[in-house]
Amino acid sequence: MEKVMRNFFLFLSKNKFLTRTAKKYGLRFGAARFVAGETIEQAVAVIKELNRKGLKVTIDYLGEFVDNKKEARRMVDNCINAIEVIGREKLDSQMSLKLTSMGMDISDDFVMANMREIMDAANKNKVFVTIDMEDYERCEKTLQIFKQLSREYDNIGTVIQAYLFRTFEDMKELDAYAPNLRLVKGAYKESSEVAFPDKSDVDENYKKMIQMHLLHGHYTAVATHDDAIIEFTKQFVKDNDIPNNQFEFQMLYGIRSERQLELAKEGYTMRVYVPYGTDWYGYFMRRLAERPANVSFILKGMFKK
Ligand code: FDA
Repeated sequence: MEKVMRNFFLFLSKNKFLTRTAKKYGLRFGAARFVAGETIEQAVAVIKELNRKGLKVTIDYLGEFVDNKKEARRMVDNCINAIEVIGREKLDSQMSLKLTSMGMDISDDFVMANMREIMDAANKNKVFVTIDMEDYERCEKTLQIFKQLSREYDNIGTVIQAYLFRTFEDMKELDAYAPNLRLVKGAYKESSEVAFPDKSDVDENYKKMIQMHLLHGHYTAVATHDDAIIEFTKQFVKDNDIPNNQFEFQMLYGIRSERQLELAKEGYTMRVYVPYGTDWYGYFMRRLAERPANVSFILKGMFKK
């Protein structure tokens, strides 16, 4: 049943009509639990509060699968604005973004020009940028763009997904770039031809990725809410004398907030992924897919404004 629900929400997450409709009606159905607001001002208030509690942030202006230049331009402008706000307000925040929101599906030259504009602003404001990893179809291109930008900028990282079979080959190839990588389990609906269908295989792969990346001396963001993986990481760094400044934990805004504070109090770097904006629908559906129990929030949300 859980698998059926997961597939259902992942299917809904890519529905263009619902994505467009959701934008018009504001944060609904309990989405505000996972999304910091629709405006940069609302996001800044959330970030300040998280920073005050000792949590670092990576901000995400929500948007994905953009298919026209006008919309991509709006995304770029909003990202640059967020970067400038981080610099001006001295927020302890990085930025995360999706290449499909920067025009990756439109043309190679267009997305590269947009990314260079963003990276120049990020460089100027000393903001680190992580390129999120989207669906399998876009994985190869995302990595090619990441490699090209890594040759030009040193404040850029990307994400590797444990559920993909290709992950270790990708990590080996990326090794030469000494990349700052965020390691995740993977959030999209993928076929069993390219990704592990069983959670236990994904978890085992995830642990191996953490070991490999840390032992190669690269900065590692362990982005998970899974206590077993968090405890595994803690033990592994202890056994291998890996310093605390070579890795960090990351979690999503609104998920396991108490655990985030505990890890920060234990002395680990803890970064919270804070999404904001009107394009919250796809992101929200993936959060429901991860944990169908969250659907109770939808039901409650339906009876609120
Ligand atoms: P898992 O799903 O096994 O969950 C472990 C436990 O965490 C659950 O038992 C539950 O207690 C809690 N939990 C997990 N999800 C929850 C939810 N939605 N609501 C409430 N509780 C929940 N993916 C991707 O494909 N590309 C990307 O770029 C990113 N980027 C990214 C950044 C950051 C900072 C994080 C934390 C995650 C991502 N992800 C991602 C998402 C990732 O791939 C994965 O889907 C989620 O993190 C859920 O997997 P967990 O590792 O938490 O484990």
